[in-house]
Amino acid sequence: MSMPIQSESEQLERIRTTLYPKADAACAELAREIVELMRSREAAGQKTVLGLATGSTPVRLYRELIRLHREEGVSFRNVYTFNLDEYFGLSREHPQSYFRFMHEQLFAHIDIPEDHIHIPSGTVTRQQAFQYCAEYENSIRELGGIDLQILGIGRTGHIGFNEPGSSRESRTRLVTLDSMTRRDAARDFLGEANVPRYAITMGVGTILEARQVVLLAWGDSKSEVLARAVEGEQTDSLPASFLQSHAKARFLIDHAAAADLTRIKHPWRVGLVKWDDEMTRKAVIWLADTLQKPILKLTDEEYSERGMADLLTTRGPAYDLNIQVFSQLQHTITGWPGGKPNADDSSRPERSQPFPKRSLILSPEPQDDVLCLGGTLSRLVRQKHEVTVAYATSGNLAVPDNEVSRVIELFLELEPEIREAGKERNLLRTAREQLRQKGEFDFDSIEIRHIKGLLRRGEAREACQICGLPAGRIRFLDLPFYEMGRYRQFAPKEEDVAALVTLLEEIKPQQIFATGSLSEPSSVQGVCFELLRQALTQVASQSWMKDCRVWLYRGAGAEWASHEIEMAVPLSPDELANKIQGIYQHQSQRSQSPIRTDRHRETWQQAEAINQATAKTYNRLGLAEYEAIETFKQWPIFTQL
Ligand code: F6R
Repeated sequence: MSMPIQSESEQLERIRTTLYPKADAACAELAREIVELMRSREAAGQKTVLGLATGSTPVRLYRELIRLHREEGVSFRNVYTFNLDEYFGLSREHPQSYFRFMHEQLFAHIDIPEDHIHIPSGTVTRQQAFQYCAEYENSIRELGGIDLQILGIGRTGHIGFNEPGSSRESRTRLVTLDSMTRRDAARDFLGEANVPRYAITMGVGTILEARQVVLLAWGDSKSEVLARAVEGEQTDSLPASFLQSHAKARFLIDHAAAADLTRIKHPWRVGLVKWDDEMTRKAVIWLADTLQKPILKLTDEEYSERGMADLLTTRGPAYDLNIQVFSQLQHTITGWPGGKPNADDSSRPERSQPFPKRSLILSPEPQDDVLCLGGTLSRLVRQKHEVTVAYATSGNLAVPDNEVSRVIELFLELEPEIREAGKERNLLRTAREQLRQKGEFDFDSIEIRHIKGLLRRGEAREACQICGLPAGRIRFLDLPFYEMGRYRQFAPKEEDVAALVTLLEEIKPQQIFATGSLSEPSSVQGVCFELLRQALTQVASQSWMKDCRVWLYRGAGAEWASHEIEMAVPLSPDELANKIQGIYQHQSQRSQSPIRTDRHRETWQQAEAINQATAKTYNRLGLAEYEAIETFKQWPIFTQL
């Protein structure tokens, strides 16, 4: 079914896609729309049937619906719901069951009658599954079909759990989960091996029968699959692409998730653009990348042939364009991430004064720092800046039980030698007992989490030491949102912001290195970045802030695109080896890789590959050949607060 084109820049998009600066704005709008739908159907004497999803994506929407219920008296008595899916083999009580998720995230907080809720059962037997799924479909039909279906999208392109290979006609059924999907869920289940292999899901055909479909997506990890779903061909290797055939399917996404749409990534290919410095850099680098040529060798013909005649007319000829972009890129490279003292800094990324600088490195979880900017951290320390590394969270949710068990046993063996530590002994004994009693998927007690947190502290200290940073310059903030929370369910509060404000006021940094600006907003990195934004807003008027720059590093597994980079810090082979040593100290994370692109490689190997790939890209564009590069982009602090 063809869709009327919204605007020239969206001409390649086959699904109506609306961009929002933040997930919250999209969710607020959608929640209102859902309430209006409920009201109009109620006024017509009809019930409303909603199709619901789980996962991180809809959490903000559900929070907004709960708020509307509490504060504006919106009632859900006339609403019926059907959830997309459930893990096969999980009971309702299991902490990771979608039944439990839906009750914790939505149903327990609104007035929907329990018998209006439908969630596939995870405990039917294989023999029962076929019949059970047919009945699930019947219940949807009997209630008149789904009025509005909410969807998220997996990195495999799945909707519901319709993994690649699912046909457009597929119905509710028992399916096998893709290995990437299982890897993405590994954190929730504390290890990939614990993630169920099967699930019951509504089919693509079932979803397409809904009268309206709204797919939501936030964060940079979704950008690639999203662009393929919106602009690519319909194919069963990317089931979300089948939504193109639905007349009333829409995507609501944030800017980070939109990054790979042509209108954002290569806007000159879908219309006239304003050729400012950034757009020019983007286009020139794109051309060099596409032709696999160094920037300085690009010709006028090549610009014209690739639809960039407009750029040539506005800012050309090629010779000028090439030199301009080449020299911009050249000036991103610096071995002095804190600024080079007494040097001409007119074309350096960081200013030379003041020197030394108070540099604050904010790491959402232990390991984000060394993984993403271990080399830069070492350089800052070596160049005598006053570096503080602050770990926003303890990271204890990501520690497997066997690690903590090992530590407890070790300490208890050492017991005679630490007689004065009576308190710790009790803690250890209590924790050991709790671990023994812990059911396979029970939550950790406070004691266990405490020890897991200590374990990560130890690893972080070791890693920092390898980067030259003494333990006295490390802060463990243990922000309460994390200590009280669970993945996907973090609820940050004022006290989290207050802790960051206290840190900022004490250090008065002249440089902050932070991450999470493009992360999914309910991830640890996403939450930490939003907290930093709020904290900076609170201190914005303080005098030291006038002299403070924020440098963004990209999360584990991703790097800034070449045209976005504003500071590129090269690492020598020795510096890279040192960084790897640092990463290696995070022993408890070896089975919990935060980089999930490649299951066969260890975290450090992936980090190494990313830094080396950036160096190769710079070299291919015609710049010097380095072993590895870490990259940063400035956050325009005062326009963003
Ligand atoms: C959840 C579901 C899945 C998720 C998708 C994205 O019920 O059916 O398709 O929507 O895996 O997950 P999150 O939102 O966690 O990124």
